[in-house]
Order: sequence, then structure tokens, then C-alpha cells
Amino acid sequence: MPGVDRISVDLLDKRVNSLASRAVLLFGVPDDADKDEDGAAAFDENGVVPSAIRAIKKSRPDLVVITDVCLCAYTSHGHCGVLTPADLPARRRAGLLPSRSRGSSKGGEIDIDATLDALARVATAHAEAGADMVAPSAMTDGQVKAIRARLDRHGFQNTAIMSYAAKFASSFYGPFREAAHSAPTFGDRRAYQLPAANRREAIRDALLDEAEGADWLMVKPAMPYLDVLFELRSATRLPIAAYQVSGEYAMLKAAVAAGALDEKQAVMESALCIKRAGADAIITYYAEEICGWLEER
Ligand code: PBG
Ligand code: ZN
Repeated sequence: MPGVDRISVDLLDKRVNSLASRAVLLFGVPDDADKDEDGAAAFDENGVVPSAIRAIKKSRPDLVVITDVCLCAYTSHGHCGVLTPADLPARRRAGLLPSRSRGSSKGGEIDIDATLDALARVATAHAEAGADMVAPSAMTDGQVKAIRARLDRHGFQNTAIMSYAAKFASSFYGPFREAAHSAPTFGDRRAYQLPAANRREAIRDALLDEAEGADWLMVKPAMPYLDVLFELRSATRLPIAAYQVSGEYAMLKAAVAAGALDEKQAVMESALCIKRAGADAIITYYAEEICGWLEER
């Protein structure tokens, strides 16, 4: 992704010191050798994200640290959850087909109980390292409830949860998956992410996350899903974040590089429109530029 770097923990210090944004969202990119079927490296307290949180909090205690909580960068198969081992060869042949088993362990896709346990451990490891807010993105049914319960049990009642509540199965995640080495090695994510056509299902799912104890809800991607954002705004009183994802960023960058768009005008308009549709916060790869442009005014 042009203008976006993966930063190693030893260089974070310098990076965050010059940051204009008030908050960061961390994504771990572990060594390939640390990946396994269960994604256990995701909850290693000395893993890349906990180490990064400690480094950031040391030099910038004022910076709000939010962490992505998922397994896909840590599993050898690249799926967001633990899979049922018995079905692995069959699924590999068939691919992970969209099915009625979304959110159910019966379909032999995502092992819900094992995944919830792992995600709750990841969130707790991040909270222990000093994260202010954890953002589960695996789209496993019950993840907010499981994470809230474990955080509370371990004394992290004040660690907030931002749920990727309305996360659609989207082609706009392509550049991110390449950058984070988190693309599924077989099948796709349609078995657990939302169908692009289903607005009402997205609202229903988001309200379930609210009932499970989410402190923030999120709509993702942003620009192609502003109707969902707008509808969710009137369906809840929780704050909502909108995630302008890697493919949206890549489209803007490519159009700018081709001379078709003025970067500042187009990016500021995109942010303004996301805000108009109801976002209280915008997660975007343009965050630093936008902060700079806002300063200029
Ligand atoms: C991991 C995750 C993804 C993104 C954020 N968290 C990838 C995915 O779900 O496939 C996408 C971010 C982006 O495209 O900018 N679950
Ligand atoms: Zn994931």
C-alpha cells in the first residue's frame, strides 16, 4: 500500500512521537514461522502486539491504543478463527462455502468455542499490556460477550470494546491482506462476514453486539456502506466508528496517481461524507494527512 509501512517494535518509538492522530489501531504481523493451526501466537504476552503496546505507552502514554483482535494473521490457514480439525481436508477440497452455518459450529467450519476462547485470551493479553480498547474483527458470534467476560474476570473492567459489528465480506480488504499476510489459504471469509446485500442483517448483528456489551460499534468498509452507517446511527446510541479500508485507500491513491483526482479535496470529501452519514470516529490510512490538513484550516 503506497505510503503505508509495517513498523517493527524497535522503530515504533520514533513513529509515535511524531504522530498527529490521537489514537492508533494496531495490527500484528507475526513471523510466518510463528503461525499455526490455532493462531496461538496471537495471545503470546511477548508477541508483536503486546510488545508494541508497551513500547507506545512508554513514549506516548497520552495516545489511545486500540488493538485489532483476530486470529487470521496468526493462523497457518489464514482464517479468522480456529477450524474444526476433523473437517479440514474436506473443507480444503470444497472451499469454505457461504452457508447457513455462519456462526454455528455444526457446519464444520469455524470451531466457535475454541475461537471464542482464543479471542478472549488475545483481548486479555492486549489489555494486560496496556491497550485502552480492543477491537474484535473475527465476526465470530458471541465474541463481544466472551471478551467482556474474560476482561472483567481479569480485572480489566475499564478496557473498552470496539466491535467490528457490521463487517461485510468485501473485496476492498485485498491490499490489507497482502500487507498483513493474512489472506485465507483456501476458501474465503463469506462463511462469517456479512453478505454485501444485507443491510437489515448488518443492523441486527450490530445490535446483538451492543447487547453483548460493546462500547463502540463499527461499520466496515465505509464509503460503499454509508447507508448501513446512516441506518445504524439511528438504531443505537453507542458511538460508531467507520473504517475506510485498504481498498478504498488504494482506489483514492490510484486515482490521484493517475491524475484523475486532487488528493486533498477527494480525501477530505470522503472523510466529511463518512462523518455526515453518522461516524463518530473514522479509521483511515489517511489519518495523518487528514490531521495535517485540518490543522492548516
Ligand atoms: C482481520 C482484518 C481485516 C481487516 C481488518 N482486520 C481483513 C479481513 O477481514 O479480511 C481489513 C482492513 C483493511 O482492508 O483495511 N480480520
Ligand atoms: Zn481476521
